[in-house]
Amino acid sequence: MKVVISLGGIFFVDAAHIKAVAAVLEELANSHTIYVVTGGGQPAREYIAIARELGANEAVCDYIGIMATRLNAKLLISALHNACPEPLADYKEVAEVTAKGVIAVLGGVSPGYTTDAVAAILAEYVNAELLLSVTSVDGVYDADPNVYPNAKKYERLTPKELLSIVMKEELKAGSRIVIDPIAAKIIERSGTKTIVIDGSNPRNISDAVIGKHSGTEINSTQ
Ligand code: UTP
Repeated sequence: MKVVISLGGIFFVDAAHIKAVAAVLEELANSHTIYVVTGGGQPAREYIAIARELGANEAVCDYIGIMATRLNAKLLISALHNACPEPLADYKEVAEVTAKGVIAVLGGVSPGYTTDAVAAILAEYVNAELLLSVTSVDGVYDADPNVYPNAKKYERLTPKELLSIVMKEELKAGSRIVIDPIAAKIIERSGTKTIVIDGSNPRNISDAVIGKHSGTEINSTQ
């Protein structure tokens, strides 16, 4: 199975966690084709905030965010034994890498969206069977659960429902959204089965690949 994994930037602050994620990815790569897209996390947001204060426009801030996502991609590559040596910068480069049985690792690609959208576009491009969005929350809620403790988690959503939930969000460089609206739009047009899960335990990633998860599943055939 072709599996694209969007790995939130929050998971790149501690070497032990990166190692544990890398071990799970390598295990998965024995029986699946694995593509990973890394987020930029707090460093991306901090650099973007400084750039904005200096007068940089949103597109310039996006490029700064992309650099941070690529740094995290390089960290993940450092922990993997069978990955491409550098983060890939173009969707069209992945086939050459995965044909050799190697894990494809990408950071950001171009301004205007986040690595969720990169992962969604990549999943569409390679006809992936599954897109996993690995975040710090355990699914999609009707409001930010960190701010609203009574927020309701969705177990299942259609791509259309997901789109109507995330469309209200602002798409500025560095903004915090569980899935960005561009990603949701791509998921809607491609119909890629998508699962949003909590990545604090890396085992959740391999469990989700075999259908065991307590996150939110986005599927047009439900
Ligand atoms: P992230 O993908 O890290 O944003 O990109 P995120 O969704 O907040 O993910 P986490 O929190 O790391 O999990 C960081 C910023 O980099 C720019 C955007 O400004 C984004 O907000 N970016 C990233 C792009 O412009 N294009 C890309 O392809 C990727």
